[in-house]
Amino acid sequence: MSVQKQSEKANVLIIGSGGREHAIAWKLKQSRKVGRIFCAPGNGGMSLIGKCVNIKADKIRALADFAHRNKITLTIVGPEQPLALGIVDEFQRRKLKIFGPDRKGAQIESSKVFCKQFFQKYHIPTAPFKVFDIVAEAIGFCKTLEYPAVIKADGLAAGKGVIIVKSFDEATDAIKSIMLKKTFGKAGKRIIVESFLKGQEVSMMVLTDGKSIIPFLSSQDHKQAYEGDTGPNTGGMGAYCPTDLIDDKMMEEIKEHILLPTVAGLRQEKINYKGVLYAGLMLTESGPKVLEYNCRFGDPETQAILPLLQTDLFDLFMKTVNKRLGANEKLSWRNGSSACVVMASKGYPGKYSTGVRINGMNEKGNQNALVLHSGTRRDGDKWFTTGGRVLGVVGIDKDLSGALTRAYGLIKKIRFDGAMFRRDIGFRVLKDK
Ligand SMILES: Nc1ncnc2c1ncn2[C@@H]1O[C@H](COP(=O)(O)OP(=O)(O)O)[C@@H](O)[C@H]1O
Ligand SMILES: [Mg+2]
Repeated sequence: MSVQKQSEKANVLIIGSGGREHAIAWKLKQSRKVGRIFCAPGNGGMSLIGKCVNIKADKIRALADFAHRNKITLTIVGPEQPLALGIVDEFQRRKLKIFGPDRKGAQIESSKVFCKQFFQKYHIPTAPFKVFDIVAEAIGFCKTLEYPAVIKADGLAAGKGVIIVKSFDEATDAIKSIMLKKTFGKAGKRIIVESFLKGQEVSMMVLTDGKSIIPFLSSQDHKQAYEGDTGPNTGGMGAYCPTDLIDDKMMEEIKEHILLPTVAGLRQEKINYKGVLYAGLMLTESGPKVLEYNCRFGDPETQAILPLLQTDLFDLFMKTVNKRLGANEKLSWRNGSSACVVMASKGYPGKYSTGVRINGMNEKGNQNALVLHSGTRRDGDKWFTTGGRVLGVVGIDKDLSGALTRAYGLIKKIRFDGAMFRRDIGFRVLKDK
């Protein structure tokens, strides 16, 4: 095996500060081709892997300046906001390599109206819907609806812009709150009213260079705060991977009717899409349908998926950015399952305190259990919370229940005041067994 000199290795910059970005940093660190890792702004966990630089994820010009000055070979964008703001356009203008779609491509996530109209135009299966920008018309339409139904703000709303309504009165309240009270600001100028779909929800992420698609393993996440998928929506309380809800036959169907038409449609729209396409799918009685697309890796799905990936992630990113993903590119995966359980601050997703001391953090992770950080800060060897979601604890084993046992085993060793976590990650598939 040839050992690459440090000077020949690639410098990478990871933008973002959550568990997803920590997982990406952790995985890239394993690549022999990667030298220095910079994280902007990063978190406590990422500070053990690379150098955290104090530039926020939406400071696009400052980030491009940093990448230029530090001879960054490749920048990877974690969250959606900088993509929606056009970070990729800015980097490309300055001939800096960056992983992610440009502003036009990011619309697939940043505007739900754009996304739904795209589905309609390219005959991609999705829930029937209508778009409104006038309150009275939206309310009028809701008189004719069957309930439950779904009301969605058009723009980015940090995962909170979707309201499931059980009656006409609830629909009216939701519409007024989004369009008149402007609960989600400008994101609620337009809304979508759509039919409620029943089924299991699955996340399907693929890498695409605008031509080929390379699927990651499927996963399922738990968005709600409390056990049994109840309570308010959060950024995600846990995920597991893979899910056997999607077998080979269904995967073919998803490729043929959803993923490939999407990539072809994007090309047709003259969108040069490079990065991750993340389909939020509902597996309904009449087949898989897309709820939405995200234009980046999911959180916490990524924390469950990347620990199973054996292929060099840096290579995959470079091939994507250079439009050299082969149609037959095969990812190699560890056998078995992984599960990520999120530990959150007391009160999350409502009000919570930060600066709480975290104990038990000197547990060294191993091949089968690791801790990926979301909201942490390190002061020497002392650890403190900085956010609502604090840690994602990942277990890996031959099956899901083994993976969960390992994750919950490691959680027992970590303590901070008010720590909350769900004890039922994976229940939607485990209960059937
Ligand atoms: N048509 C629908 N039928 C049933 N549930 C839905 C529907 N659309 C969205 N949801 C639920 O709402 C959640 C959020 O909706 P989504 O479109 O993914 O928006 P976002 O992630 O931007 O909040 C989904 O994960 C799903 O649980
Ligand atoms: Mg979603």
